[in-house]
Amino acid sequence: METAEIRRRFLDHFEGNGHSVVPSASLISPDPSLLFTVAGMVPFIPYLTGQQTPPWQRATSVQKCIRTGDIEEVGKTTRHGTFFQMNGNFSFGDYFKEGAISYAWDLITKSHDDGGYGFGEDKIWVTVYHDDDEAAQLWKKVAGLPDERIQRRGLLDNYWHTGQPGPGGPCSEIYIDRGAEHGPDGGPVVDEDRFLEIWNLVFMQEQITDVKAKDDFTVVGDLPSKNIDTGMGLERVAYLLQGVDNMYEIDQVRPTLQRAADLSGRRYGADHTDDVRMRVVADHVRSSLMLIGDGVTPSNEGRGYVLRRLLRRSVRAMRLLGVEDTTIPELLPVAKDCMKAAYPELESDFDRISSVAFAEEEAFRRTLVTGTQIFDLAADEAKRAGEFALPGDTAFKLHDTYGFPIDLTLEMAAEQGLKVDEGHFRRLMTEQRERARADAKAKKTGGADTSAYRQLRDAGPTPFTGYEELETESRVRGLLLDGMAVPGASEGETLEVVLDRTPFYAESGGQDSDAGVITGDGFELEVLDVQRPVKGLIVHQVRVLKGEVISGQDVHAKVDREWRVGACQAHSGTHIVHAALRQVLGPQALQSGSYNKPGYLRLDFAWGQALGAQTRSEVEEVANLAVRRDHAVSATYMPLERAREVGALALFGETYDEEVRVVEMGGAWSRELCGGTHVAHSSQVGLITLTGESSVGAGSRRVEAFVGIEGFRHLAKERTLVSQLADLLKVQPDQLPERVERLVAQVRDAEKELAKARSSELGAQAAELAASARDVYGVSFVSHTAPDGTAADELRSLALDVRGRLGAERPVVVAVAGAGESGRPSVVVAVNEPGREWGVKAGALVRVAAQTLGGGGGGKDDVAQGGGTDASKIGDALTQVEHSIGQAVTG
Ligand code: SER
Repeated sequence: METAEIRRRFLDHFEGNGHSVVPSASLISPDPSLLFTVAGMVPFIPYLTGQQTPPWQRATSVQKCIRTGDIEEVGKTTRHGTFFQMNGNFSFGDYFKEGAISYAWDLITKSHDDGGYGFGEDKIWVTVYHDDDEAAQLWKKVAGLPDERIQRRGLLDNYWHTGQPGPGGPCSEIYIDRGAEHGPDGGPVVDEDRFLEIWNLVFMQEQITDVKAKDDFTVVGDLPSKNIDTGMGLERVAYLLQGVDNMYEIDQVRPTLQRAADLSGRRYGADHTDDVRMRVVADHVRSSLMLIGDGVTPSNEGRGYVLRRLLRRSVRAMRLLGVEDTTIPELLPVAKDCMKAAYPELESDFDRISSVAFAEEEAFRRTLVTGTQIFDLAADEAKRAGEFALPGDTAFKLHDTYGFPIDLTLEMAAEQGLKVDEGHFRRLMTEQRERARADAKAKKTGGADTSAYRQLRDAGPTPFTGYEELETESRVRGLLLDGMAVPGASEGETLEVVLDRTPFYAESGGQDSDAGVITGDGFELEVLDVQRPVKGLIVHQVRVLKGEVISGQDVHAKVDREWRVGACQAHSGTHIVHAALRQVLGPQALQSGSYNKPGYLRLDFAWGQALGAQTRSEVEEVANLAVRRDHAVSATYMPLERAREVGALALFGETYDEEVRVVEMGGAWSRELCGGTHVAHSSQVGLITLTGESSVGAGSRRVEAFVGIEGFRHLAKERTLVSQLADLLKVQPDQLPERVERLVAQVRDAEKELAKARSSELGAQAAELAASARDVYGVSFVSHTAPDGTAADELRSLALDVRGRLGAERPVVVAVAGAGESGRPSVVVAVNEPGREWGVKAGALVRVAAQTLGGGGGGKDDVAQGGGTDASKIGDALTQVEHSIGQAVTG
């Protein structure tokens, strides 16, 4: 039965039972808490929760869905697809459990001639929530199911929610027994491959919140009515009714898979790894088609990232299938032809859809080859060095320069038995984001539409009261949501607030914005950010913590005192470091940029080379002496001309008003044009601890420092570290350098000795192993399990040594495996020239072995290496290699 027919029967069945047929909503979820439409019920959430009155009490739909949580399972199982269609019937306070069960039973058991799906009654099993006696009773009453085919399961399996606060409820799932050849008996609780779930009946009756996991959430209370939400996997039913093995072989997917196979010249069904790749391609190309159809375009974030990942994964899978040409122009039209009967807009929109997809493939192809080489090199290096993870900066470079989504790098690494230093990768990403944010902020609002701000500013600039006070009585002049004026906002919303006057410092001159709260009659706003998007107008970005704020209300604006003290220390600290740099290095070391927030400062300055340790200490000393001198800090307004005369430092590229503010410390020692907030006396800065110095482009350096209590904390941490080391090495702290130096020399000597011993031991072992060679189909075969703790590169040299000793007279295969120090198994296979001539390839043998070890690997024909996770399978893996030699030789 074709998928389109299964779909039609579903809708007919429910329409005939009084349900309104509702068209599929977009894949871009109408519910703002979800990225995608993940289930048929998503468009109906407001009706289920009672927020809106449903226009009908019964509805039915076939909804397009995307779920990418199990993307790595795609192709490996029979049933994981990123795009799928969900048939559903919904009751909003109308029928409940009995109705849902009897409609479902009727449709799945009715014969084909009567418009049903014709599943044999004896093949049907169901599960119910563990204490749902009512549902269990109904399955007996309505369907006559015997007790043993009604199984009970807990929250994890039989309670459904979207993963976000909203509606939820216990559910009952319907399974079809595919037969003994697909797994053990005992129902879905034993085997979910043999017993395939096709339909989930959810008894939506509760409002939940605080969702931490599938089985960890809080029930707030009952929904206004008891509802039904069911979801039947259209692809799953299709693969059962079409008599194929999995969802990738149904009529809507198989043609794309076949096209991938044809392009690669490989046969589907001949090799498991290739089959998985073809299924990935078919699944991902279809999902990409549907996503672009609904308006998603590739990007590095959110929905666009998911699309990018799907497209790039399929391009790479085709590459692994040996296809180097562009493939999307070949595959996408096939996927479209499969889907256009159900979604005719795909045809009329295909020009747009295909140009988006083709451009993405082109972009990836430009960097794929170089990126892959960089990856391979880094992976080889990591393995040779005995590392288990690829460095974070490689992953970052692959992402940033070569467009490899991090998940792709993670997968490629896993195929090589490696992890990725994700922590470091994320740190580099954050740094990059901060840079981008700073750039954006430096450009202020850039090209954004500022008309709403300008209208508010027409009532005059916002007076800033924050030099004199931290708390100010004020009034809400306007509220903006996504750049549009709104009359009010309520709890949980994030929006922009403009006040008549404010004590909040807007980010500028390198100083981060103030934190604090704005309160009024029954409401409280947390200030997240403060900016001046147009000249003179101060805009607070806030989250409504409580109540409802309305334009025109009186408010009390209050800057967090602790925060401001820290901000003043950090900003004055920045001026001090600047003056200290110029005192030590000379007046040309002029500041070119800065950033400071409580506890931290960063300053970029014009300088051509790295500062030595000596110079850094000197700068630090001069800065802290200036703190200790307790210079008075003053701020004076004067004409720009006058400020120049007294030598106040202005930042290059900044424009200043005619009347400027000059901040001075110790008279001429530090005199800068500055609008920031400062301490009154330099001693209030407390402490300045330089923590780093680096390059930020040609002719520009950056120093970073901790300030005030953070400076102290940093030093305290280092002191603890020193005393830990001293305890560990049993010396006085000042003897540490000498002791460590001695230790390093000893370790180096010991390593040399060890390497010598190892190599003679391995030499002896290699000779012994070479003598143990056995004949396997005319090939001299050596297989060996090394003792635990042997590193992968030792396995490699052993394999090469043994191969060398066996000469080149006749075919030789050497396979050695062992668990490294981490307990993870590795395997190395080496094949000599005559062996390769006989058709035995090291890469292919390693792949077989690594699969048995639960991992992956590969390499050249002469020597290859792989790894896995399960060391208990080493013996099996070596046996597999032996069998594969037989297969390769006998062909
Ligand atoms: N919402 C449920 C599911 O997605 C039933 O439609 O499984």
